[in-house]
Amino acid sequence: MAIDYSRRAPDYDAVRADDLTDRAFWLQGLIEVGEIQPRERVLDLGAGTGRFSALLQTTNPVVALDRSAEMLAVARGKASFPCIRGDGHALPIRRGAVDVTLLVMVLQHLANPGAVLSEVARVSRRVVIATVDLERRPKTILEEAFPSLLEVDRARFPRIDAIVADLTSAGFGRIRVEERPYRRTFTVEQQLDRVRRKYLSTFDLLPPGEFEEGMRFLEREMAKRFGDRFELASNITFVAGTR
Ligand SMILES: C[S@@+](CC[C@H](N)C(=O)[O-])C[C@H]1O[C@@H](n2cnc3c(N)ncnc32)[C@H](O)[C@@H]1O
Repeated sequence: MAIDYSRRAPDYDAVRADDLTDRAFWLQGLIEVGEIQPRERVLDLGAGTGRFSALLQTTNPVVALDRSAEMLAVARGKASFPCIRGDGHALPIRRGAVDVTLLVMVLQHLANPGAVLSEVARVSRRVVIATVDLERRPKTILEEAFPSLLEVDRARFPRIDAIVADLTSAGFGRIRVEERPYRRTFTVEQQLDRVRRKYLSTFDLLPPGEFEEGMRFLEREMAKRFGDRFELASNITFVAGTR
C-alpha cells in the first residue's frame, strides 16, 4: 500500500528533521560511505522535503526528485536546486547525467526496488542508500505498543542481502555496507507528540484500532518507565556501490 505523502508534507520536517542530526549523522554517513566529493553531480531520489539536497547544495550541484508534489513544494521553499516530480521506476534523466544518487529511507516505499536501482545505474555512476536492517533493528517500547509494527516493517523494508543482490544485477560493484548507530534524545512529551503525529509512515499501515490502542499504552507507560528523557537507539545501514 502506498503511503500518502500529500498529508504528511506540511508536518514532515517538524517530526523527522533535526539540523544537527541531519548534518552530523545522515549527511556525514552519506558522504563517507558514498565517497561523495565536492562538485560531483548528485541526484537525491525520493528527496521528499529536500532535507539532504538543501544541505548538499552548498558543495554540489543537486537535483531533488520525488513523486509527491506536496513534498517537493516544501523542498522548493528551501532553496534553489531543481526539484523534479518523477517516479524512480522511470527516471526523467538522461544516461550518465549524474555522479552519485542518494536514496534516503526510500526503498521501503518502492513497488520494485530492483527496477529503480537499474534506473539509477542507467543515470548514475555511483549510489548510496540509507535504510534500516529489520533483521537487526533493536526493539523499543514502540514494538510493545504496536504489536504489528515489526511484521509490517519486515514486509516493507528490503533485506540488506536483497539490496546488495539488486545492486549487483544493476551493474554496481565495489559494494560497501556499513551499519551506524543512530541515537537521538527527546523529552517523553516530544516523543509522544512525534508518535501522535505519526512520524513513522508504518503507523498508517497498522491494523484498525492498533494505533489508537498503542497510543493510549504509550501515554500511560512512557513517563513511568523513562521519567522525562527518552533515548532512541537504533541503527541505520548505509549501502553504496560503484559502476
Ligand atoms: C520517508 S520519505 C524520505 C524523504 C527524504 N529522502 C528524507 O530522508 O527526508 C520517502 C520519500 O520517497 C518518495 N517516493 C516514494 N516512492 C517513490 C517513487 N517511486 N519515486 C520517487 N519518489 C518516491 C515519497 O514521496 C517520499 O517523499
